[in-house]
Parts: sequence; structure tokens; C-alpha cells
Amino acid sequence: MNRPKILLLGAPGAGKGTQSSNILEHYDVEHVTTGDALRANKDMETEHGTPREYMEAGELVPDPLVNEIVKAALEDAGGFVLDGYPRNLSQAEYLSEITDLDLVALLDVSKEELVDRLTGRRMDPETGDIYHTEFNMPDDEEIRGRLVQRDDDTEETVRERLRVFDENTQPVIDHYEESGELVRIDGEQTPEEVWSDLDAAIEDVA
Ligand code: AP5
Repeated sequence: MNRPKILLLGAPGAGKGTQSSNILEHYDVEHVTTGDALRANKDMETEHGTPREYMEAGELVPDPLVNEIVKAALEDAGGFVLDGYPRNLSQAEYLSEITDLDLVALLDVSKEELVDRLTGRRMDPETGDIYHTEFNMPDDEEIRGRLVQRDDDTEETVRERLRVFDENTQPVIDHYEESGELVRIDGEQTPEEVWSDLDAAIEDVA
């Protein structure tokens, strides 16, 4: 099976975006990421307000809006890597109604490391490539000059995102752990080592 259905879990900054790029390079799957979908529609007016209001405060965007995005994306996908969803138990329940999964993988990273990673993260707006001010900067001066920081990567918002993760998303991880589906990956290794472990876990189900 070269089109697995993969759920990639992890706290903000755990490396979901970084490792999703690796999965896309090696497997014939779609990248379904609620964060990117919401960023592309930040100012969309809905009965719950705009996504921007929630995202810039580090809060979760209301479920009905996010559920609709995921349902539409999964309908079109054969295999997928789902990144950024589910973020609470109600989203996890909805997900179980609309698809089955081949792999549920958690990128496990400590809190202290997450704050450093997110406040140092930079993105190339032209390619979407992710860098870090300390661990991974591009050699090309032109690319370095155009890197941007995400609005929600300031230290204050990062701390709120981590609090929201503990309160809402940790129960989702506990749920998959209790059901025996969860595969833990040590996310504090180098990106290459993390990929090697994740790829082996995908190979096991693919
Ligand atoms: P979203 O975009 O999903 O953000 P997130 O989950 O907070 O995750 P990030 O994208 O910040 O981190 P990542 O794990 O992808 O890490 P990355 O690979 O970039 O969500 C944003 C907002 O949208 C939410 O706050 C919420 O408001 C809303 N939202 C989204 N989904 C929602 C939902 N389902 N329901 C409701 N609201 C929703 O890596 C981070 C940094 O670390 C990079 O600089 C990278 O270079 C570096 N790095 C990566 N791996 C390593 C490594 N192994 N070693 C050293 N550095 C590394």
C-alpha cells in the first residue's frame, strides 16, 4: 500500500510540518493540514467570527468550521497525512465517523524544546519551506532575506498554544494510547533520525 492513511499527532512545534514534507516526498498521499487551510482563509467571515481572531490568540477555531474543512479534504484524498487535527475529543469522534486510519503516530517532544523551536521558526513564503534561526538556516542569502515569522510564533502566543494543547489535545493522545493505536516517535532526535523512525512505522502498515 503506497497510499496509507496517516494521522500525525504532536504539540505545536513537535515537527509535524517538517515530517509531513518527508512523507509527501516518499508516499503517494495528500497533506491535509488544518493550520494551513485556516491560514489560507484567515479572514473568512463565518457565524463564529473569522479564524484569525482565534489563531492570533492561540485558541482553537470552533469545531464546525474545522470539521467541514477536514471532511471536504478527506473526501478527495486516497491516502493522506493528517496534521493539526483532531485537537480535541469531539474532533476525534467526528474523525472516526468519516474515515479509518492505518497509522496514528505521535512526535514526542518536551515543553522547553517546543518553545525554542517555535520562537526560532522562520518560513519561506514562496516555497513554504520551514527553517530555524539556530538549527537550520538556508545558505542562499536571497532566501534568508525573505524568511518570515508566523504571527502566532511570539513567545506569549506560543505559551497559550501549549496550554490549549495540554487542556484539549492531550486527552486525544490518551484516547489513542488507551485504544492501543498510538505509535510514539522520539521527536527530540535530529529531523533525519525522526524521519527514519517514522518511515519505519509507516513501512510497518504500508
Ligand atoms: P497549526 O498550523 O496546526 O500549528 P501547530 O499544531 O501549533 O503546529 P506547528 O505548525 O506550529 O508546528 P509543527 O509541529 O508543524 O512544527 P514544525 O515542523 O514547523 O495550527 C495553528 C493554529 O490554527 C492553532 O493554534 C489553531 O488556532 C488553529 N487550528 C489548527 N488546526 C485546528 C483544529 N483542528 N481545530 C481548531 N483550531 C485549529 O517545526 C517547528 C520548528 O522546529 C521549525 O523551525 C523546524 O525547523 C524545527 N524542527 C522540526 N523538527 C526538528 C528537530 N527534529 N530538531 C530540531 N528542530 C526541529
